[in-house]
Amino acid sequence: MQLPVYPTLLTDIRDGVLTITVNRPDALNALSTRVVQDLEHCISAVSEVLANDDGAWPVRGVIITGTGKAFVAGADIREMEGMTPDEAHAHSSRMHQVTLAVEQLPVPVIAAVNGFALGGGCELAMACDLIYAASSASFGQPEVGLGLVPGFGGSVRLPRYVGPGLARELLFTGRRLKADEAHRAGLVTALFDSAEELLDGAHSTLAAVARQSPTAVALVKRTLSEIEGKPTAEGLALEAESFRTAFTTQDKAEGTRAFLAKERPSFPGR
Ligand code: HXC
Repeated sequence: MQLPVYPTLLTDIRDGVLTITVNRPDALNALSTRVVQDLEHCISAVSEVLANDDGAWPVRGVIITGTGKAFVAGADIREMEGMTPDEAHAHSSRMHQVTLAVEQLPVPVIAAVNGFALGGGCELAMACDLIYAASSASFGQPEVGLGLVPGFGGSVRLPRYVGPGLARELLFTGRRLKADEAHRAGLVTALFDSAEELLDGAHSTLAAVARQSPTAVALVKRTLSEIEGKPTAEGLALEAESFRTAFTTQDKAEGTRAFLAKERPSFPGR
């Protein structure tokens, strides 16, 4: 699979894992409108390939990370200084679409947080399925110190990760969480000593994903997203629908056949 070149991103596909690296180290990878546009185009290109690949699944997982000492230090403050309220609304809405597109990708996405994940950076990480962090990572929503509020989804997603109490404290004070506290708070799923181990850890999880049925993994991801916030009975009904859908796939036929034949499954991916 070939992706176009994006001015503010580095992309690399290895062993079915696409790594997207936000690459503006001089501005600590701040999310300028250009970065948001590049992310939008990149995620939509992957999504399109996966929707039309007829079971080939050239990408089984995505890693989002940043160059240098930051994951992403937030939206670009220099650019926001001159924005009108309507432009700010459009910027926020556009990034909301990017975070929804990340959530809707049919493969797991891991945020590999190597350094500062502040404001929009923390919000980008929270749109991913898993947040892995190096011990050098730190997280926070410092918007109130700039006279701003979260605009890339933090008000919605932070309470879901850390609970309403800690979310309020972080949003009201702008206090930063170091990696270990973010881990204890449930924001970070796995913690690594170095940036290298962080990427190895993310690759290793996505390699484990790649041994499963891709259609089943995609269904699980979609179902989790659909049932979020729903009452129990509604969530269970959606799960039963998803269970039915699994029974329409060749992957299910192969997975159950292989188990009973004591063989390794070779999933057709459809
Ligand atoms: C633009 C940024 C930036 C940002 C850093 N830089 N963060 N530029 N937007 N968000 C730039 C600095 O201006 C500086 O440029 C260079 O990157 C290096 O940063 P330093 O501050 O010198 O580095 P350091 O002393 O290590 O401090 C790191 C830091 C600090 C603690 C991360 O940079 C910082 O507090 N950044 C802002 C974090 C933040 O408030 N993020 C939330 C933004 S609001 P020069 O040219 O001087 O070298 C947001 C809202 C989202 O995200 C919703 C929008 C709709």
